[in-house]
Amino acid sequence: MKFFVSFACVLLIAGAALAQTPRGASTGVYSKAQAARGKAVYSESCSSCHGDALEGADVIPPLSGTRFIGNWKGQPVGELAARIRTTMPADQPGSLGQTASAEITAYLLEANGFPAGEAELPTGNQPLSQIIIDGSK
Ligand code: HEC
Repeated sequence: MKFFVSFACVLLIAGAALAQTPRGASTGVYSKAQAARGKAVYSESCSSCHGDALEGADVIPPLSGTRFIGNWKGQPVGELAARIRTTMPADQPGSLGQTASAEITAYLLEANGFPAGEAELPTGNQPLSQIIIDGSK
């Protein structure tokens, strides 16, 4: 009996550790369809400032390229999604919601060379905090 109890404990701990293991954004963490939806929202709500090619302008930072990745490398995807959800669009912050923020984040990952995968980028803060923006391929 004691053995089974310890065995169950080991399984529980291993399961918890697996669920917590952070993974890189370069492992295919969003789907193509999700990024396409994000692109549509981007065109409507973001491109007027950040540009059609995410190039930025004057005081408006670019959302692709080495400068953008330099700002975000090593941070959780959840930080980026939350930044978008709570502060953007700058003229209407807080208007996007979780789903659209995740879609736009997927589009930004795609535009920065991160590969698509099978599953969609999750919308919740907890799962998003476990995906780290690593180097794109
Ligand atoms: C009215 C102009 C405007 C619009 C529209 C706008 N932004 Fe921004 N955005 C800015 C400015 C200015 C900054 C830099 C100042 C700041 O961070 O608030 C910025 C910063 C950002 C940053 C941080 C970049 C970095 O490298 O730190 C992200 C990400 C971002 N915007 C995403 C978006 C997304 C996604 C949308 C559309 C939902 C959007 N923005 C719409 C003006 C805009």
